[in-house]
Amino acid sequence: MKNCSEKIDQPVPFVDLGLQYENHHAAFEKAIIDTAASTQYIMGAEVSRFEKDFSDFLGVREVVSVASGTDALRLSCLAHDIGPADEILVPANTFIASILGVCELGAQPIPVDVDPETHLLDISDAETRITSKTKGIIPVHLYGQTLNMDSLLDFAERHGLFIIEDACQAHGAEWNGKKAGGFATTGCFSFFPSKNLGAFGDGGAIAVNDSSIAKKLRLLRNYGSIEKYVHETIGTNSRLDSIQAAILNVKLTHLEKWNNNRFCAASRYSNGLADLKSIKTPLFDSSLSQNHVFHLFVIQCEHRDKLQQYLTDRGIQTGIHYPVPIHLHKAFEPWGYSEGTCPIAEKLSKNILSLPMFPEITNNQIDIVINAIKEFYNYEL
Ligand SMILES: Cc1ncc(COP(=O)(O)O)c(C=O)c1O
Repeated sequence: MKNCSEKIDQPVPFVDLGLQYENHHAAFEKAIIDTAASTQYIMGAEVSRFEKDFSDFLGVREVVSVASGTDALRLSCLAHDIGPADEILVPANTFIASILGVCELGAQPIPVDVDPETHLLDISDAETRITSKTKGIIPVHLYGQTLNMDSLLDFAERHGLFIIEDACQAHGAEWNGKKAGGFATTGCFSFFPSKNLGAFGDGGAIAVNDSSIAKKLRLLRNYGSIEKYVHETIGTNSRLDSIQAAILNVKLTHLEKWNNNRFCAASRYSNGLADLKSIKTPLFDSSLSQNHVFHLFVIQCEHRDKLQQYLTDRGIQTGIHYPVPIHLHKAFEPWGYSEGTCPIAEKLSKNILSLPMFPEITNNQIDIVINAIKEFYNYEL
């Protein structure tokens, strides 16, 4: 009998932002100092450069930077004139921020169940939730994989719905060679530090293909004004700081390489865990997502809570994305949803586990995680 109770020598973090800083600190420090010296702290050259370079990267007409991913979604909702009479379809398995803009504007988020393999919004389930009040849909490219955008665009067109893409976890993910965030009127990104493209604080952006929507968003993010003291509409203050833009300008040049590293790490996990019957690894299926950028590596597993505790005890950090489907949160009480509304999302929330994933993760660290999982199922249960 193997003794598996010992802690491993080197803990494996869930994400290691320190390594990325160490590897590129000279460029980051220069970017910060140059911006400080420029005194252009709000908007300015670094912000314009980031908006241009990120729009080129995504292949979209324009990018409007904002203060966070949550604001990108909220301002997109405002730009689509969502109001209390509207129902908006949203996936049951996502981070709550995906739907906060909908709620803030008084519209009703309608939870849609998810696909049991990809954990993404299930378009066939969405068909069953359409009513005369349905106005739009917010697909979330969760974990770094895109929805089947051909099916989604067809669905939205048939029902006359707008689409706001939540690409907050999918910087660089593609469907048929086109980047996530570039399919709809607006595509929303978060630059929360641990994202595939992360700032040194909060930040967000909206990818836009329609110049009149882009103009509306530029007004909304800046007190309803483009020209100083000329206020065309009621807006807010939601801008990307110049220092954050300067950091993102450095990081954007590394994004493809980092996404590739994540893909290689995911591939090693998948191969290493392939023969374990108690585990289901994410699909590597080109018909589902042609470029998964593995923001998260999420497995389905038996005895999830025990496995998570076992890994924690051995110094391996994991996460759960997400432990409660959105419609079962207390915040959703006003709409009266109960268990059974989205059975697949509800079941997944009890058996999913996110393994350590970041571009600098080493093969040795991945093997430590794989071996610990194998030990758990082979010896501990
Ligand atoms: C799917 C999803 N949507 C929205 C957000 C909100 O982004 P932010 O934290 O930048 O407000 C996040 C970030 O955590 C997210 O993962």
